[in-house]
Amino acid sequence: MLKLKASTLSIILLLLCLSVFSTAQRSAKNNTSLWKTLNGDPPLAVARGGFSGIFPDSSMTGYTLALITGLPDMILWCDVQLTSDGAGICFPELTLNNGSDIEGLFKKSSNTYLVNGVSRTGWFSVDFTLDALINVSLTQGVFSRSSLFDHSFFQIVTVEDVARQLKPPGLWLNIQHDAFFSQQNLSMRSYVISVSKSVIVNYISSPEVNFLRSIVTRFKPSPTKLIFRFLGQNDIEPSTNQTYGSLLKNLTFIKTFASGILVPKTYIWPLDKDLYLMPHTSVVLDAHKEGLEIFASDFANDVPFAYDYNYDPVAEYLNFIDNDNFSVDGVLSDFPITPSEAIDCFSHMDKNNSGPAIPLVISHEGASGEYPGCTDLAYKQAISDGADILDCPVQMSKDGIPFCLGSINLIERTTAAQSLSNLVVNIPELNAEGIFSFSVDWSDIQTLKPVILHPYPEASLYRNPRNKNAGSFVALSDFLALANNATSISGVVIRIENASYLAEKQGLGVTDAVIEALSKAGYNNKTSKKVMIQSSNSAVLIKLKEGKNNYELVYEVEEDIRDALNSTILDITKFANSLVINKNSVYIRNFGFLTGATDVVSKLQAFKLPVYVQLFRNEFFSQAWDFFSDAYVELNSFVVGAGVDGVITDFPGTANKYRRNRCLTLGKDTPSYMTPVGPGSLLTVSDTQPPALAPSPILEVADVTEPPFPSVAAKPDTDNGTGDGASAPPPKQPSGQAKLVAGIFLSNIAIILATVLLI
Ligand SMILES: *[C@@H]1O[C@H](CO)[C@@H](O)[C@H](O)[C@H]1NC(C)=O
Ligand SMILES: *[C@@H]1O[C@H](CO)[C@@H](O)[C@H](O)[C@H]1NC(C)=O
Ligand SMILES: *[C@@H]1O[C@H](CO)[C@@H](O)[C@H](O)[C@H]1NC(C)=O
Ligand SMILES: *[C@@H]1O[C@H](CO)[C@@H](O)[C@H](O)[C@H]1NC(C)=O
Ligand SMILES: *[C@@H]1O[C@H](CO)[C@@H](O)[C@H](O)[C@H]1NC(C)=O
Ligand SMILES: *[C@@H]1O[C@H](CO)[C@@H](O)[C@H](O)[C@H]1NC(C)=O
Ligand SMILES: *[C@@H]1O[C@H](CO)[C@@H](O)[C@H](O)[C@H]1NC(C)=O
Ligand SMILES: *[C@@H]1O[C@H](CO)[C@@H](O)[C@H](O)[C@H]1NC(C)=O
Ligand SMILES: *[C@@H]1O[C@H](CO)[C@@H](O)[C@H](O)[C@H]1NC(C)=O
Ligand SMILES: *[C@@H]1O[C@H](CO)[C@@H](O)[C@H](O)[C@H]1NC(C)=O
Ligand SMILES: *[C@@H]1O[C@H](CO)[C@@H](O)[C@H](O)[C@H]1NC(C)=O
Ligand SMILES: *[C@@H]1O[C@H](CO)[C@@H](O)[C@H](O)[C@H]1NC(C)=O
Repeated sequence: MLKLKASTLSIILLLLCLSVFSTAQRSAKNNTSLWKTLNGDPPLAVARGGFSGIFPDSSMTGYTLALITGLPDMILWCDVQLTSDGAGICFPELTLNNGSDIEGLFKKSSNTYLVNGVSRTGWFSVDFTLDALINVSLTQGVFSRSSLFDHSFFQIVTVEDVARQLKPPGLWLNIQHDAFFSQQNLSMRSYVISVSKSVIVNYISSPEVNFLRSIVTRFKPSPTKLIFRFLGQNDIEPSTNQTYGSLLKNLTFIKTFASGILVPKTYIWPLDKDLYLMPHTSVVLDAHKEGLEIFASDFANDVPFAYDYNYDPVAEYLNFIDNDNFSVDGVLSDFPITPSEAIDCFSHMDKNNSGPAIPLVISHEGASGEYPGCTDLAYKQAISDGADILDCPVQMSKDGIPFCLGSINLIERTTAAQSLSNLVVNIPELNAEGIFSFSVDWSDIQTLKPVILHPYPEASLYRNPRNKNAGSFVALSDFLALANNATSISGVVIRIENASYLAEKQGLGVTDAVIEALSKAGYNNKTSKKVMIQSSNSAVLIKLKEGKNNYELVYEVEEDIRDALNSTILDITKFANSLVINKNSVYIRNFGFLTGATDVVSKLQAFKLPVYVQLFRNEFFSQAWDFFSDAYVELNSFVVGAGVDGVITDFPGTANKYRRNRCLTLGKDTPSYMTPVGPGSLLTVSDTQPPALAPSPILEVADVTEPPFPSVAAKPDTDNGTGDGASAPPPKQPSGQAKLVAGIFLSNIAIILATVLLI
């Protein structure tokens, strides 16, 4: 009954994805003795409910996506529930109303049962025959994930459906509630014995001791491995009346009925109350000593995890599989593509291998994902992370000292609001109210503390709280000395904004200050470091070009564009040597999904203009759904898929790690998890579409034309240096371009709203 629709869907998906992902199997298996797993084999990736981070849990489409995007020995995990007629369906919860639309179809069929002594109300599988569930559609049970696929009618599937239609390399059945089904006179024991006669079952796990003990002799000998699942340390195991924490001390007992254990990841790497890692426990070594395999659960790319990983999920997997002391034997993940690449592409990397030069890794305010931006610590981290180009967005203090800071408004990156609130002014030319760098002397700025930026507080994603005020501010001259000193740094990029305003209204000549600092630091003749000067104002670049310095002039296109006229590009070549564009000008994004690609990158490159793309961040909230909440999939799609020359990132360590991974050099054997995604393919799986957005504009000549650069006026004579701020004439955009309006975060909010409206 369930077969027709499900298989049609999965075939459509397969065809679609095969054109997207390469069919290549996996990169050459590495020397297995490197692994500190129980048997020395590489660890396994287990897809919990399929690719449940994207598609509804336990859907055929989700299982298919896991197989297509993962390791060739990917294991599919099914949480088995029994229907009243004894069929085994895959569903993540005992109650079907969380994760499907059953509530609306059978309004009166909810029921209340005792489950391990606790009363629970909901729509239970034991109250329905398999046939009765034919019209039920699976939905996304986790609110933070896209609900766009909830209306595409992904049916409930049986264990046999998954095994027979997909023939997965491995099938893992989790029996979370044997005792409950026994009370309902349904036998999980009979079910698993019978199903394992008709399909290959590789693993059976359960948190109930009695269930595993009841089947252990039936599965000995057999290829099916029995795994004891640990729940919370203080939860009571129903058959022994002991806590899981105390059972953990008795692995000899566990070994009498199981060949492995599955533990929450915090059993291995516990967290302190601030969400930082504590030293690892001995549980992996203890299990291995007992001859038990050990698997870790609760991996997902889209939940906050230990701050130590800086939102890099690959770093988290590597901490479990590639540390000096142990490796778990497998990981249970909602995003199985990520452990696949961690295991096959990123493990055991040679720390000294510097990797290819493409893409150019350009820091954004230093390693601002880990430290307050533009501080000495952020720059030192970016250097040790392997950045090629160190960036300084230059600001001017009231006394004319150029220094690096991500915003002209001190409130956005410093503690100025606490101590200098008397200097708040409204400046229409800058479209902002704030405390501006040109109102404060450099010595006073240095008494402030830097503040780490949290781009996504609405998603509760905070950056490294321990570093929130760490580091000190850096004058441009110190920045240049620091970069000059670092042998691994090939150049600097100095970003100049608001130069016309500063010259005309504040009497501050930022371009002259930059040129002087460069010359003093020896960048004109003593060092071999490349100097890039970036501005979104063509007048600044034109002025610099007249200076006949050997700088790479970088034009920043601030707004999202879908195309650029040849005449515009020709114009740009007159004042710039390269461009910075936004991610949305490369891949078109609509409500968090990609809908296609532009050819802006190749068009610009045809005019010999290298293209650098901003802004890459590790936080999953910054990425389109199509990239599976995985910063590496996103980077790879821009670098290999779109051919960009450089990436501008808050996390240079991630970009550097990406370009050094061993799966990039495999040619036609490149595995699917290191193949660029096909923009738009994910949306085609959905029966509903988000509303169309107005297309981004085409970059025209008028967009890049600016009034000529003004000469530097005399310094305003007001003592407090705030200029004529509030009484200034009507605002004139400092640049001809419209400001970026809908940022990454707005698109994500929009998708939540859009999907709510679609229901
Ligand atoms: C793996 O590496 C070890 C030590 O480096 C070596 O002794 C062994 O022969 C290698 N095995 C294979 C299959 O390459
Ligand atoms: C691991 O694999 C990579 C790429 O296939 C290879 O270059 C490297 O030598 C391998 N390492 C070992 C120890 O086999
Ligand atoms: C499923 O839906 C069809 C069409 O609406 C209906 O005819 C059929 O009775 C439904 N079956 C069940 C078991 O609800
Ligand atoms: C629904 O299920 C998901 C995953 O199975 C779980 O994370 C979530 O907490 C559940 N929600 C409720 C309201 O039970
Ligand atoms: C289970 O079977 C027993 C004995 O046949 C019976 O007394 C009991 O009512 C049944 N329970 C349910 C939930 O059907
Ligand atoms: C578990 O403990 C409860 C009360 O603490 C007791 O009523 C029950 O009989 C115990 N069960 C087993 C299997 O020991
Ligand atoms: C381990 O558990 C078994 C069964 O509950 C018990 O008989 C045995 O005494 C326990 N051993 C230890 C060291 O706690
Ligand atoms: C390995 O264990 C040693 C000693 O217990 C410890 O000092 C070291 O930090 C551990 N390494 C890792 C990566 O956990
Ligand atoms: C700046 O100085 C002017 C005159 O010197 C004064 O009227 C104004 O209040 C001052 N503004 C601030 C913010 O201190
Ligand atoms: C540059 O390196 C030299 C020698 O390593 C060191 O003495 C000096 O302090 C460094 N300067 C900066 C700005 O880091
Ligand atoms: C470098 O240039 C400066 C002026 O730009 C000049 O004074 C200095 O002598 C030059 N140094 C060398 C080694 O050429
Ligand atoms: C734009 O320039 C490219 C590269 O020079 C050229 O191939 C293309 O034909 C031009 N398009 C138009 C419309 O002139």
